[in-house]
This record gives sequence, structure tokens and C-alpha cells, in this order.
Amino acid sequence: MTLVPGTQYRVEPLIASHDRTAFHSGVPELDRYIRLQAGQDARRKIAAPFVMVDTSGSILGYYTLSAYSIQLGELPEPIVRKLPRYPLLPATLLGRLAISSTCRGRNLGRFLLMDALHRSWRNTSEVASVGVVVEALDETARSFYLHHEFVPLQDHPNKLFLAMVTIERAFKARRKSTLRIRGVAAWNKAHSVTMPPGSEDIGFDEDCG
Ligand SMILES: CC(C)(COP(=O)(O)OP(=O)(O)OC[C@H]1O[C@@H](n2cnc3c(N)ncnc32)[C@H](O)[C@@H]1OP(=O)(O)O)[C@@H](O)C(=O)NCCC(=O)NCCS
Repeated sequence: MTLVPGTQYRVEPLIASHDRTAFHSGVPELDRYIRLQAGQDARRKIAAPFVMVDTSGSILGYYTLSAYSIQLGELPEPIVRKLPRYPLLPATLLGRLAISSTCRGRNLGRFLLMDALHRSWRNTSEVASVGVVVEALDETARSFYLHHEFVPLQDHPNKLFLAMVTIERAFKARRKSTLRIRGVAAWNKAHSVTMPPGSEDIGFDEDCG
């Protein structure tokens, strides 16, 4: 479980007692998924859904993670140059990410993204992954990921990638000048990681339900 700083919200694995019926992101496909499919996918080990909930248990947002593989040729050339010539590489799929339409613009989407990136990175100590892949549903989603340093895959403009070494360095806050992912500094600060001077800060507003 992760606590969202300055709020009573927490992020935790989806379980049967979470009430999914009231979740409304404004994107019907994402609402249908959490209501009807996420529980089954979790039971069948197809996807691991995580939800952000308030003190009453209402879901304010969610994301899913799955194991994935990516073809070397799909990655941008500067990344390919640093990798061995294996035809398929292990990756992590951030399958879906959504925030309740009443909670938009309060940095909660960014917090959920940071939570997903941190969890993906943490898991690489047990199961390796060269990076996080997202499939943007539309231009709005695509621009959200571009804003957070993801790069489009070759020939798949709606599939985007963030290298695990970049995620690792950002969370370890080793080289603040070159490897800043918007939101990592605040995430680290909230989780008591010592930050370099001048790192960004963001706030979270309570009570969006
Ligand atoms: C995309 C989504 C997750 C963003 O969540 P949010 O809580 O409204 O966004 P935040 O308040 O956390 O925004 C954090 C930063 O991202 C930026 N941002 C938010 N949405 C953005 C977008 N669509 N394009 C570019 N930047 C965006 C914000 O301006 C802010 O930037 P800054 O602080 O650096 O200036 C949310 O709008 C959503 O659930 N949309 C519908 C579902 C969806 O598209 N999911 C994504 C892919 S499946």
C-alpha cells in the first residue's frame, strides 16, 4: 500500500470488496474495464490492477501492470544501441491508467503514474524488464505520457516506452540534471528519499470525491 502525501488516499491492489460501480473516468472503455474485467484479469494473472481509494473506499483512479515483451526493432535507435541483439526483450506493460473525472488536474494522475513506475522498477530485482510500455488510447493519453518523458516506439506512434535505466536513475535521484521525470522528485520526497537541492515540488488537494 502507498499513501498519497497530504491526503487520506492510498494505492493498493484491487480486491473483491472495492466498489467499482461508481468509478467514472469519462472514458467508457476504461470504466467498463475496471467494473467488468479487472477482477477476472487479476484472478487469471493476466493483469495486476491497483486502485487509489479514499477513506470511504471509493476508487479515485486505477492502473494495471502486466509482463510484456518487446521486439528490439520497435525501440528507438538510441536505446537499441545500448542493448544486446536479442530479438525479444522483457518489458512491463502499463495497460491502463485512469483518474476519476471529478479528480482531474490535482496531480493524482501523475502520482499514480509514479506509483506504477516505481512498482515496475522495484519488481525488476526479481523479474527483469528493460522498460515500461504504454498503449495510449487517444491523443490526450499520448500527450500525458509524452509529458512524462515516454518516447514513441518505431512504427507504433501510440505505443510509448520509458527505459528502466531512466526510471531507476530518476528514482535514485543520482543525476538530477539529465534524468528528470516530472513527478519523481515529489514522489521521492513523499517517500523520504533525500533529494538534491532545487528539485521540483508538487502538492495534492484533498477531497475530490
Ligand atoms: C490522463 C490522466 C490520467 C491525467 O490525470 P490528471 O490527474 O488529470 O493529471 P495530473 O493533474 O496528475 O497532471 C500532472 C501533469 O500532467 C499534465 N497533463 C495532464 N493531462 C495531460 C495531457 N492529456 N497531456 C499533457 N499533459 C497532461 C498536467 O498539465 C500536469 O503537468 P505539469 O504539472 O508538469 O504542468 C486523466 O486525465 C485521465 O484519467 N484521463 C482519461 C483516461 C486516460 O486518458 N488515461 C491515460 C491512458 S490509458
